[in-house]
Amino acid sequence: MNKTTLTLSPDNAGITRAAELLRAGSLVAFPTETVYGLGADARNDLAVAGIFEAKSRPRFNPLIVHLPDIEAVEKIATLPETARRLTTFWPGPLTLVLPRRPDSGLSDLVTAGLETVAIRIPAHPLARELLRKFNGPVAAPSANLSGKVSPTTAEHVLEGLNTRIAAVLDGGPCGVGLESTIVGFDDNTPLLLRAGGLGVEEIEAHLGQKLHTPDSQKITAPGQLKSHYAPSVTLRLNATAPTKIEAWLGFGPHDFTVPTLNLSPTADLREAAANLFAYMRELDRIASAQSITQIAVAPIPMTSLGLAINDRLERAAAPRP
Ligand code: TXA
Ligand code: MG
Repeated sequence: MNKTTLTLSPDNAGITRAAELLRAGSLVAFPTETVYGLGADARNDLAVAGIFEAKSRPRFNPLIVHLPDIEAVEKIATLPETARRLTTFWPGPLTLVLPRRPDSGLSDLVTAGLETVAIRIPAHPLARELLRKFNGPVAAPSANLSGKVSPTTAEHVLEGLNTRIAAVLDGGPCGVGLESTIVGFDDNTPLLLRAGGLGVEEIEAHLGQKLHTPDSQKITAPGQLKSHYAPSVTLRLNATAPTKIEAWLGFGPHDFTVPTLNLSPTADLREAAANLFAYMRELDRIASAQSITQIAVAPIPMTSLGLAINDRLERAAAPRP
């Protein structure tokens, strides 16, 4: 938690400071042409966990990665032909959900463990300057508390997030005022995932085809299917101790001798959130290799980031379809 949130001026000094703070793993709100984003280094697990903590988001929804140019996009994602044609709207209020490269270097929390990544090249000059100066991927949801409306001025950002983030780069009011339009792809078929600042008609006119609405049976909107994030072994939640034939996913100190990984030996929720996806995957691998079919998971308190951690664990523990 920060004492006060710095307001940074929209000049070279302000942008340089904002980039330094991002590099140090701090949270910085910045203007885009749609709404203000709450930015963190998308490669830094702890920084990204901080976004969910600052917003009090009860779920690890995947985040949009902001980049300065198409060269940067190609380093972390691949572009199906239809997606490539839509890049004509960049920079601008359009987000594309693209197949993520295995070596993207992104934190698992950014993509919520998905194989895809949402990417946007914003048009706002301050956002572009900041992204160029930072020279890396910036994860940023809208800079509001969870459940509140998206902020379109630096004052709005501070109303919700003052003392919760390091700084806000003040660029005055946002021009578009609503979030970006999100388009995903089923192979080459374009899907409208969220209506927003770029008109659907404009997109359809450029492609010469209609946007489809996602089939609700398919996993296009993440987090909707309860068991989407299930590992191959089963999970037993809120366990006080593992049985002899279980592995243990810990939180806080313990001295069990079964195969184990500890989300946070000191019971720090932010550290636990930062480790969650990687440890679930790793313990799944370790358990499977030793023919262990169940992981017992320590209780995680239902406060702060504990809500999102428990939400994700419950999805992983839900019965398979
Ligand atoms: O204009 C905007 O889009 C603003 C500015 C800051 O860029 N950002 C924004 O982010 O609205 P947020 O986190 O509030 O909304 C991101 C949306 C979420 O609904 C999320 O589910 C979706 O993007 N999303 C992110 N990654 C996804 C993925 N891999 N597949 C499907 N949807 C994804
Ligand atoms: Mg939002």
